[in-house]
Amino acid sequence: MLLTCTGIRKTFGDTMVLDGLDLSVDEHEVVALIGASGSGKSTLLRCVNLLAEVDDGTIELDGEDITNPKVNPDLVRRKIGLVFQSYNLFPHMTVLDNITLSPVKVHGRPAAEAKEQAMDWLTRIGLADKAGSYPDRLSGGQQQRAAIIRALVNSPRLLLLDEVTSALDPELVGEVLTMIRDLKGDGITMVLATHEMGFARQVADRVAFLDNGKVLEEGPPAQVLKDPVEARTRQFLARIIEAGRL
Ligand SMILES: Nc1ncnc2c1ncn2[C@@H]1O[C@H](COP(=O)(O)OP(=O)(O)O)[C@@H](O)[C@H]1O
Ligand SMILES: [Mg+2]
Repeated sequence: MLLTCTGIRKTFGDTMVLDGLDLSVDEHEVVALIGASGSGKSTLLRCVNLLAEVDDGTIELDGEDITNPKVNPDLVRRKIGLVFQSYNLFPHMTVLDNITLSPVKVHGRPAAEAKEQAMDWLTRIGLADKAGSYPDRLSGGQQQRAAIIRALVNSPRLLLLDEVTSALDPELVGEVLTMIRDLKGDGITMVLATHEMGFARQVADRVAFLDNGKVLEEGPPAQVLKDPVEARTRQFLARIIEAGRL
């Protein structure tokens, strides 16, 4: 397993958000986290990236217990790419500088090499002509795709995507989902929180339904989304269908 979360507990004040959650992710696997708003999807991703500290439980990445206080969080984060719903790019830097900042400043890579790699990625997703532009000149979908590249250029072991399409206008969602599907083709290991059930069904190897602070049900999308075992999963999906999102 590349990632193994065991018995994760996380409370905010009196609110128990994660209550003994277990989740494992294999190398090259794509796992979609689904669940109601407030079910703890973002909190889990933040715990994995050490942006939030777990109260209890362990998270192993590549066989290392990253919840051990002796672990250097910066070194862990170098193995993990994280993209949020919005505001991922620095507004005062060009797209190219956004992408090369960390490879050059943090990883000490030669600027020319980092630039070449960034341009390769931008070319691949059809954004080479935006390299010198500032983020506000890009559409939301273009910004998110550039943000995903920025998360990828350090060759992370794991890519975490937190509702990366939910702030986008509907017509811009498709280009981002297509890119994520391509990354799956590259074998990139991903954990993605999403409310796009159709996408989860298409791209995920496994869907995990979060409820009451735990993974209540998980399995292949065809099973969990079409024929869930748990009543709570069925209720959640029924609400999604009602809202016209399945
Ligand atoms: N920094 C925080 N401080 C206090 N409460 C928080 C914080 N982050 C998240 N929460 C609470 O934790 C719960 C889970 O939130 P979140 O992980 O964002 O859920 P999801 O991403 O599934 O919508 C919510 O009740 C939210 O209000
Ligand atoms: Mg969230």
